[in-house]
Amino acid sequence: MRRLPQVLIIGVKKAGTRALLEFLRVHPSIRAAGPEVHYFDRFYTRGLAWYRSQLPLSLEGQLTLEKTPAYFTTSGVPARVRADLPGIRLLLVVREPVTRALSDYAQGLSKREGSHKSFEEMAFVNVTTGLVNSNWGPISGGLYVRHLQHWLDHFPRSSIHVVSGENLVHDPAAELARVQEFLGLRRVITDKHFFFNATKGFPCLVKRERSGKPHCLGSSKGRSHPSVS
Ligand code: A3P
Repeated sequence: MRRLPQVLIIGVKKAGTRALLEFLRVHPSIRAAGPEVHYFDRFYTRGLAWYRSQLPLSLEGQLTLEKTPAYFTTSGVPARVRADLPGIRLLLVVREPVTRALSDYAQGLSKREGSHKSFEEMAFVNVTTGLVNSNWGPISGGLYVRHLQHWLDHFPRSSIHVVSGENLVHDPAAELARVQEFLGLRRVITDKHFFFNATKGFPCLVKRERSGKPHCLGSSKGRSHPSVS
C-alpha cells in the first residue's frame, strides 16, 4: 500500500539532498519518492489523499521517505508537517553556507538565458561596506538558524538529524551509518556500496537500487561554481 512518509528530507537545497536520497534508497527498508512532491509548500490544498498517491508502494516495516528541500525555508511548513505527520523523523543536510550559496547561484544561472548580475552584485547590498543581502535566496537559504528555529518551534531536537554535506562527499558510508542509526535501521549501506568516480569528482553507487548498475548523480549535481574574489 501507499503510506504517508515516516521520514522527510526537508533540505537544505544544494547541500546534497539528492545524493542522500539516492544513497538511502539502496536500503531495502526504505521506499522513496523520486521527484520532489512539494506537498507541504505548493500543493497542500490537494489534501492528504493526493499526497499519498504521490508516494511509492511499500511493505509493512519499510519506511516511506520524501524529499522536498523547499520545505526547510518555506514559512508555515513546519506547522503543517506537525499537524499531518506528528511522528515524522526529519533529515536536514547542511553545507558550508558560502559554497552552498555559490551552488544555488550556479543553479539559477543554468536556468537563465542572456545577461545576469554577478554573484558579488547580488550578494552585497553594498560591496564597499561588505553589507550582505540576507534576503537574496542563495544567502538567506544558508542562514540555517533562521529557518531551523521555526522547525524547533514544532519538533523536538531529537526528531531532527543533521547530515554534513561535506562528509556525504568525503565519507558517504560514515555519514550514512549515522543516518541509518537515527532511523533505527540495520546498517546495510556501507563503504562497499560506493566508489569514487574521478571524472565526476564525487562518490557514486556501485549498484543502483533495482537496476543493479553503477550510478552517479546527473550533470546538474556537481556543477562548477563561479570564482569569486
Ligand atoms: P554542486 O552542483 O554545486 O556541486 P542538492 O541535491 O541538494 O541540490 O545538492 C547538490 C549538491 O550535492 C551538489 O552541488 C554537489 O556538490 C553535492 N553532492 C554531494 N554528494 C554528491 C554526489 N555523490 N554526486 C554529486 N553531487 C553531490
